[in-house]
Amino acid sequence: MTDLRRRLLEAGQAHAWERLERLEPAAHKRLEDQLARLDLALVTRLARHLRADSRAAPRDFEPPELFPLRRGPALEGRARAARELGQELLASGRVGFVLVAGGQASRLGFEAPKGAFPIGPVSARPLFALHAQRLRAATRRHGVRTPWYVMTSPANDAATRAFFAQHAFFGLEPADVFFFAQDMLPALDEQGRMLFAGRDELFLAPNGHGGCLLGLASSGALDDMRRRGLTQLSYFQVDNPLVRPADPLFLGLHAEACAGMSSKVVTKRDAGEKVGVLGRVDGELACIEYSDLPAELREARAPSGELRFRAGNIAVHALTLDFVEQVTRGELELPWHLAKKQMRVVEADGRVLERTGIKFETFVFDALARSPRSVVLEVERAEEFSPVKNKSGEDSPASCRADLCRLYARWVRAAGLPLPPADDEGIHPLEVDPLCAETQDEFLARKGLRPDVRPTGHLYS
Ligand code: UD1
Repeated sequence: MTDLRRRLLEAGQAHAWERLERLEPAAHKRLEDQLARLDLALVTRLARHLRADSRAAPRDFEPPELFPLRRGPALEGRARAARELGQELLASGRVGFVLVAGGQASRLGFEAPKGAFPIGPVSARPLFALHAQRLRAATRRHGVRTPWYVMTSPANDAATRAFFAQHAFFGLEPADVFFFAQDMLPALDEQGRMLFAGRDELFLAPNGHGGCLLGLASSGALDDMRRRGLTQLSYFQVDNPLVRPADPLFLGLHAEACAGMSSKVVTKRDAGEKVGVLGRVDGELACIEYSDLPAELREARAPSGELRFRAGNIAVHALTLDFVEQVTRGELELPWHLAKKQMRVVEADGRVLERTGIKFETFVFDALARSPRSVVLEVERAEEFSPVKNKSGEDSPASCRADLCRLYARWVRAAGLPLPPADDEGIHPLEVDPLCAETQDEFLARKGLRPDVRPTGHLYS
């Protein structure tokens, strides 16, 4: 007890001790347990960071070197060799898959885990199911297991596990799905004092998707990967149903370059698109968030007229297991990103107030700076990126379903198959199950395809 008091005082959190002393026994025990589990040294560092929040403004920002989408014969030759290498990696069972699904779907106004959101334009399959189909497709194509490491957060962990169980793991082997919850960190007030969500409860917030690196290590996932003989990880986030986690070209380019961490990008739709952009900041590869990119850089044009900083981050990365082990060994402290928010907090006397609080997050792409080599592969947006983020408008369920239908209509047209009637917006309600095909070439190679005609549209599976 006195040890906890001493540690709280040293950490500048005397108010937490005072609150604890005023609580009745059951509540006292609850808060005491929570405080005892906290890494107070980390809280002290966060508070210090808050006082000295003066990340040096980048001096020099350059576009990254890309492995481009439009390729001449030499690069196409490299791409062919890389595809073969990627296929070998996949077929020898060296690749594991990491999904980050810890965020709340608050912008979407959806109460369940975001992965449970129904998105298949014809099948209404949830995001988790579509990702699972892609892993099943890889299993089928390469004849290997596709271990899947799914990061949740304490807020959605139980619901996520239940959703998988309820859907029989979407046809995957339960033993190949490994859940781990990311850590939570206390939110602080502007003076660096911890805030409370209840009289006997700290205000905790998820530590950002950068937390997945430490989470992989602390949950035993890295050990599991080693046991399975994995060497490469394919990282993706839950909101993009077009993501291709088992892409031989990307995995092959990454391995061939002996890179630690690599990324896929698409050309930004326009200067205002709310994606991060990849670039070299003072020589180091980085992703600059939309809100941190100065307006003159956001709007800057290359002589060709294209946006100069157009390499939009689609949050798809390849990481070698060695790299993840190296950055999580000892002191991995990725830079902290602070988010100032109005928070509903509970004072020691039980009053509920709206106060300004600060949440602390790390971002996985900040590890790019630690990777001695890195590939930035440009891909076609229409084929690989249409995230579900907002309730309506851009990057919404409606825009995403329309993007999927447009892509599949191209394949169906190319195959000379009939299209279902278009709706008022000119969209043909269509869906191709990843188990049927993940690319137009695969679709065209399938013989005797016939859609399952449903009231919602045509489904190829
Ligand atoms: C993110 C990227 C942005 C990129 C865009 C592409 C950040 C800060 N920005 O933006 O550069 O262009 O995706 O779609 O990531 N997550 C967790 N735990 C957390 C926080 C997030 O698991 O603590 C997961 C979410 O479930 C989601 C993903 O990380 O799968 C992205 O998080 P989100 O906050 O939605 O980032 P965006 O603003 O969409």
